[in-house]
Amino acid sequence: MDRIRIRGGRQLKGDIRISGSKNATLPLMVTALLSDKKLTLNNVPRLADITTMIQLLAQHGVEIESGTGENGHAHGTTLTLHTRKVTSTTAPYDIVRKMRASVLVLGALLAREGAARVSLPGGCAIGARPVDLHIAGLRAMGAEIDIDGGYMVARAPKGLKGARYTFPKVSVGATENLMMAAALAKGTTVLDNAAREPEITDLAECLAAMGVPVGGIGTETLTIEGVQSLKEATHSVIPDRIELGTYAMAVAMTAGDVELVGGRLELIESVVQTLRAAGVTLEETAKGIRVQRTNGALHGVDVMTEPYPGFPTDLQAQMMALMTRAEGASMITETVFESRFMHVPELSRMGANVTIHHESALVRGVPKLRGADVMATDLRASVSLAIAALAAEGDTTLHRVYHLDRGYERLEEKLAACGADIERLKS
Ligand code: UD1
Repeated sequence: MDRIRIRGGRQLKGDIRISGSKNATLPLMVTALLSDKKLTLNNVPRLADITTMIQLLAQHGVEIESGTGENGHAHGTTLTLHTRKVTSTTAPYDIVRKMRASVLVLGALLAREGAARVSLPGGCAIGARPVDLHIAGLRAMGAEIDIDGGYMVARAPKGLKGARYTFPKVSVGATENLMMAAALAKGTTVLDNAAREPEITDLAECLAAMGVPVGGIGTETLTIEGVQSLKEATHSVIPDRIELGTYAMAVAMTAGDVELVGGRLELIESVVQTLRAAGVTLEETAKGIRVQRTNGALHGVDVMTEPYPGFPTDLQAQMMALMTRAEGASMITETVFESRFMHVPELSRMGANVTIHHESALVRGVPKLRGADVMATDLRASVSLAIAALAAEGDTTLHRVYHLDRGYERLEEKLAACGADIERLKS
């Protein structure tokens, strides 16, 4: 298994190009299952999770063409997906266990084929992460769903019907699943208390380009008019706001000065406010966002994760890493996922002072961190350790880097180009 070695103490200076959003691309790829026409996606990130989705869709019968991959990546940044015919309605355990977002094929397969058999998901080890809302929403649209042998077995012999469904809790994945199912359902579907994440807006805009009328884009009530068939379309994936926030925090951690090319402030407003309160300067430029912390210390700020437009749970671990070096204390509260503090023992091994009280972590800033061998436990936890390592004394070796490779495109190259002392140690 590959490892990454980082020697701390270098300021990041230069520019970093932000990739297309992983979490937007995954559902966008699944929309290809709804249509027998081609869908072309531009600005696709080159990541392990995208490769996993290619494998899953290929075994459902989706023909996928990709520009050539570079630097050892399996695919390029443009994907053309074409589902002349769905050849299998089963999403097998072996693929779904690698990536929870695989569950997104449920609604699309059911809508197009009237049947789907999808393994219950695995994915990051953060909390229980059930799929009850996906199931309840599809049942409201007329699906019959049983759990059998670890699989969700769904049928809609007469097709899905448009319905009004109110999510009891905001869920990104369940909103996406129901939007895709609604695209081919008979009549209108209204989703209340829907997720409003930019990735949902991106999906809505892609469905609209494919000929599905979607109303209420960007609000908590989405209205989707089902259609009989979808059109050929081309769509460009939005920038990855989590990658953007992660690099902004890495720059702040090293008191650096970096332009995040392709970044947009409006994608991370709550993060911008929080970072500014902590003493970081962020300003929009012609090419993206310039992040600087060239003078002054970091201040401890309190953070609570919430669904969009609140502070994203996917940046909680990185923010905590930053706060380990702030002056004063910071209370970080995680309200979206249980057990999402697995990075805390690893940060503590580097000298951080963090105490967990239920869903909150009290971070008391320390004058220095020290490099150590640390273990990545999930995607965002692993990058938080890299951020800590950039400001630690001595060497840090990050183990289980495959977590990082699921969601960060060429992390070590991007950081090294800005002056970080970082290298991948091949196994
Ligand atoms: C997506 C993102 C993930 C991000 C999360 C929250 C992708 C591929 N992943 O995950 O990076 O951390 O949104 O912003 O886009 N829940 C239920 N029942 C359900 C579904 C969810 O109780 O049926 C709960 C979850 O356990 C969690 C909360 O709802 O506590 C939010 O989860 P959800 O928004 O569904 O996350 P994902 O779509 O899995």
